Amino acid sequence: MLNDLQTHWDNATLDYDLGKYNFKQWAIDVIQEEFPQVKELEKIHQLLKPNEVVKLQQHVQNACSRKDFMEMFDAFTKEHIPSRIQNKRYMIQRQGTLRVVIPQQAKVGRRLHFHQGIFVGNGRGCRTIWTPLTKAEKSNTMWIMDLEKSREVTKQFLEEKWDLEKFEATCIQNSKPVELVPGQSHLFFQEHIHGNINNEEGYTRVSIDMRILIEGEEYGRRLPGGFMRMPGDHKAGEEFDYTGKHFITYAGWNSKFAKNIPLPMQRGTIENYCKKYNIQYSSYEFENEHCDWQPGLAHHIEQKPDGIVLASMYAITDDKKRRNELLNLALENNVELHFANELCFLKNKKDLEQINDYLNFAVPKKGKHSWE
Ligand SMILES: [Fe+2]
Repeated sequence: MLNDLQTHWDNATLDYDLGKYNFKQWAIDVIQEEFPQVKELEKIHQLLKPNEVVKLQQHVQNACSRKDFMEMFDAFTKEHIPSRIQNKRYMIQRQGTLRVVIPQQAKVGRRLHFHQGIFVGNGRGCRTIWTPLTKAEKSNTMWIMDLEKSREVTKQFLEEKWDLEKFEATCIQNSKPVELVPGQSHLFFQEHIHGNINNEEGYTRVSIDMRILIEGEEYGRRLPGGFMRMPGDHKAGEEFDYTGKHFITYAGWNSKFAKNIPLPMQRGTIENYCKKYNIQYSSYEFENEHCDWQPGLAHHIEQKPDGIVLASMYAITDDKKRRNELLNLALENNVELHFANELCFLKNKKDLEQINDYLNFAVPKKGKHSWE
């Protein structure tokens, strides 16, 4: 049985105005920055080697955090999404996933196996908007199962510990191709099993998948603020240059999120952020483990550097009261806190509101999974 937040997403088609939201032309323009020889998406396989296709995908995905794309996608969701989620608030995936399916992709190990959103960390509060930029048909489209069958197959797969071959064969047998043209999107949620079969149609298919997260619902591993951004939050597309400022970095294991993230991974995320915005830092600081009230962080704030870079806003303590004390302490001392994973920062009261909005937007898990 479907609830009101699911009915519009149970393998439904969304028609949009391609003139207004020309994702196809946008993708071609972005691709041509790196691969000027590509003029038609359908012919990518004739011009690029599989390893170059990977580079092309990466380039387009990165371009999804440019302001022009974010603005177009924000407008698209504003027009089409609220009526399908009971006018609740929602967040938008920061970076779309671009799929480029070349003919006979299975031969070069590029076939996307069957799976469902829950298997890849999408909470059940996420909804998927799958948008092909070329004609999607027959073997050259996504294949998807209906909801009841998806739940049944998932339960059997997990309970009986099938091997992947059996799972794949069962999925292919029970799925149907999603047939669309540019100007249409396919809407589904995270329990629908879907995947690709070998493309035997002789042309390359390109599609973008984007997700939204509904307020108060389950985010799984798709952190609000990190994987998901608020509509209108285009900070990630802005340029900042912190040359000449005094920064330090800070790692710790004092929240549910951070406690299992090894130091090199925290530092790796911090390092990328610092490079992106020209941050030169003078030290690596860290919090003592088991000190979840983060006396170290408070101390470093009181030393008043210009800024402190943390791996994530979720690396601050889970204790809401203490978390707010620390965030306010930074504001009072005029110390910027930068959150590398979320590409966002705390510089003023407005930022604080947004950070709290992110931290309180949704929940990691809501109720049992259908197989539990
Ligand atoms: Fe998927």
